[in-house]
Amino acid sequence: MSTPVVTSSSSGIAHQGPSLFQPLKMRGVTLRNRIGVSPMCTYSAREGVAQDWHLIHYGARALGGAGVVLVEATAVTAEGRISPADLGLWDDGQIAALARIARGIADQGAAPGIQLAHAGRKAGHRPPHRGGDRLPEAEGGWSTIAPSPLAFSPGESAPRALDESGIQAVIQAFIAATQRALQAGFTVIELHAAHGYLLHQFLSPLTNQRSDRYGGSLQNRLRLVVEIAQRLRVIIPANLPFLVRISACDWVSGGWDLEQSLVLAQQLRQLGVDLIDVSTGGTVPDAVVPIKPGYQVPFAEAIRAQVSIPTSAVGLITEPAQAEKIIASGAADLVLLGRELLRDPHWPLHAAHALGHPVAWPAPYLRAAPPLG
Ligand code: FNR
Repeated sequence: MSTPVVTSSSSGIAHQGPSLFQPLKMRGVTLRNRIGVSPMCTYSAREGVAQDWHLIHYGARALGGAGVVLVEATAVTAEGRISPADLGLWDDGQIAALARIARGIADQGAAPGIQLAHAGRKAGHRPPHRGGDRLPEAEGGWSTIAPSPLAFSPGESAPRALDESGIQAVIQAFIAATQRALQAGFTVIELHAAHGYLLHQFLSPLTNQRSDRYGGSLQNRLRLVVEIAQRLRVIIPANLPFLVRISACDWVSGGWDLEQSLVLAQQLRQLGVDLIDVSTGGTVPDAVVPIKPGYQVPFAEAIRAQVSIPTSAVGLITEPAQAEKIIASGAADLVLLGRELLRDPHWPLHAAHALGHPVAWPAPYLRAAPPLG
């Protein structure tokens, strides 16, 4: 194993060792490295309330050395859940169980983050491991809301188009859920505006066919995300970072694309958003996505370069050298790993070893740590 060398980081400042293991300071929160657990629904909550499962699952990934653990899409209203087993923060009674998770993550040295979400027309389904189809009302399903009455896939009933008061209720729900997340002790808040869920449905011309001030022109389609981000930035303390996950494109001609994402990212930067978490897709079922290792990294790179805002890259990042290159080349400030961290919660510890970087293993595991050198 090579000894740490002086390399040039994405910040342009010389430092010791791999860029992937340089701390990342966002306002008053310093991540111990550039590796984050991408938010991933585990469909294991009861009535929106976190269970022992969540403590074990997220705690294990904090123990495995990630810099930030982003807890899965957590619904801001009951009707905003993808499935009945989603986490939620629409009620004060859901705070205590999530506070235990936030504490458990922080105790193991990772920053506890949470993603706040509303599924819009993609709500009310069975969890993917139970088929993923729309849940009939007779089995506990519910009707959904969206910018326009367009069903996600043929055969599904159309969502109800939100009126102005419904939109205001959504804004209030995001505010209240953010306050609860802060009360629970999360120090990183992420707004989910990607993957074809409610906020992305407002952004994309494929799903937003409104003719009021929330639809039509680009500025009108951006309005809801911008309004929510503005309101949340005010209530999130100035020492805590605020992230927004976007889909940089729909992968459909005539849909949401990188050019529009750049305009959105610019406005979010001006509002004090600290990092854009750059994903893609999810709007319509028939998009053709050119999936390959790191396929979404160029979008994170373009937004970082053209808007001068920190970004995270996600999507088929699985190899330590690949992750190191993304950070060292300045394509992104943070890498988020999804499925690879489901396969191996200790990926950050293994990556440190592969890159020749000495990181502290959890003391009780020291006898299992591979020697450096
Ligand atoms: C996801 N993904 C996801 N994304 C998100 O923003 N919020 C979420 O709650 C979820 N839930 C979720 C569950 C599961 C089981 C998977 C596999 C994925 C997407 C995820 O965060 C990530 O962007 C993708 O999985 C791509 O990254 P990987 O898995 O290739 O590293």
